[in-house]
Amino acid sequence: MIAKLFEIQQTPFQAKPPLYLKAGKKFFSLIKEPGETEFIHQIDYIRVPDKTNEFLIYRSLNDSEKRPEIIVHTKSTLASQHDDASEILAKKIGFWSYKDILSPEALASVQLPSPEVATKEHIQEILGYDKVTEGDSLRFFNYVASTSVDMPNEFWPVMVLWLCDEMNHHAGFKTAYHKLFGVAPVMETALAVEESDFGQFDSIMKEPFKLLVALTYDEASTINGYKHDLAVYTKIGQPFTNFLRRVNADESWHFSKFANLAAKYFPERIAEVPKILEEVKSLDGRPYKRTFLFDHDPSVEAQFTKAAQDKACEIVLKVLTRKMDWWRSQQNGCRLNSY
Ligand SMILES: [Fe+2]
Ligand SMILES: [Fe+2]
Repeated sequence: MIAKLFEIQQTPFQAKPPLYLKAGKKFFSLIKEPGETEFIHQIDYIRVPDKTNEFLIYRSLNDSEKRPEIIVHTKSTLASQHDDASEILAKKIGFWSYKDILSPEALASVQLPSPEVATKEHIQEILGYDKVTEGDSLRFFNYVASTSVDMPNEFWPVMVLWLCDEMNHHAGFKTAYHKLFGVAPVMETALAVEESDFGQFDSIMKEPFKLLVALTYDEASTINGYKHDLAVYTKIGQPFTNFLRRVNADESWHFSKFANLAAKYFPERIAEVPKILEEVKSLDGRPYKRTFLFDHDPSVEAQFTKAAQDKACEIVLKVLTRKMDWWRSQQNGCRLNSY
């Protein structure tokens, strides 16, 4: 029996669906199941009715017992896992919790810099924005699950891991925000009931390939944004700098996963990518409406310029071209070592 690495607890998920969902429609649920096996610890359970199997989420040690990993199973894949490890639906090595970095002791050193270095208002604005946008990942997950968009089966296990990461990011930003600025219950209540507007992105979100390209772009843009914000966040202490570096490593993993899915399932559609990216650019950079996707509002974060959008598109096009070429070569019977 391996040592228990993580407490069995509800965080970082929210047990209740977000308030924007109408009564009776519950697309995300969490039930604590504190059972454990010799191999893993089961802590979370996600089911998206009519959309996904019942996913079981585990956090465990890998074989070397050094790096935690997070694994997505269904009950049937779990039953066969000892015979065939390939039955694991999705896996991420190097799982971490914000609590590892922003511990109470570490938080003690997190403080506002002098006003000449960065103003309190500026830090509060960007930290508050990152807290909200990361947390809106749950709204995004629920919205995609509520639509009829027919994503590849492999999409959902990846999304489950993605959601674990994004909610972990949200919890870390929230912890730092509350440490620096305290808790404002009235503001938190207002944020909780504020509506999302996903309808503005319908042309992208109702078509699987477009949505995967958009998600790849969104992660690329977020990576660039956090790199830019690091200059400010560094001023509030080393623990938070460490936290942001881990966050951005996760965003890179998300970028890579969404790009892989787009390339693997739609390798013939490479010629469409530039046009889709133009559409994506026309939708991004708007006033933020609680969508998680396209959360690059230049009125809040000035680095999201047209040049930054172009840079993100350039990266996406380059990576997708390489990956889609590889998948087409596989279909044509050519053999390459990797993509
Ligand atoms: Fe994130
Ligand atoms: Fe991400």
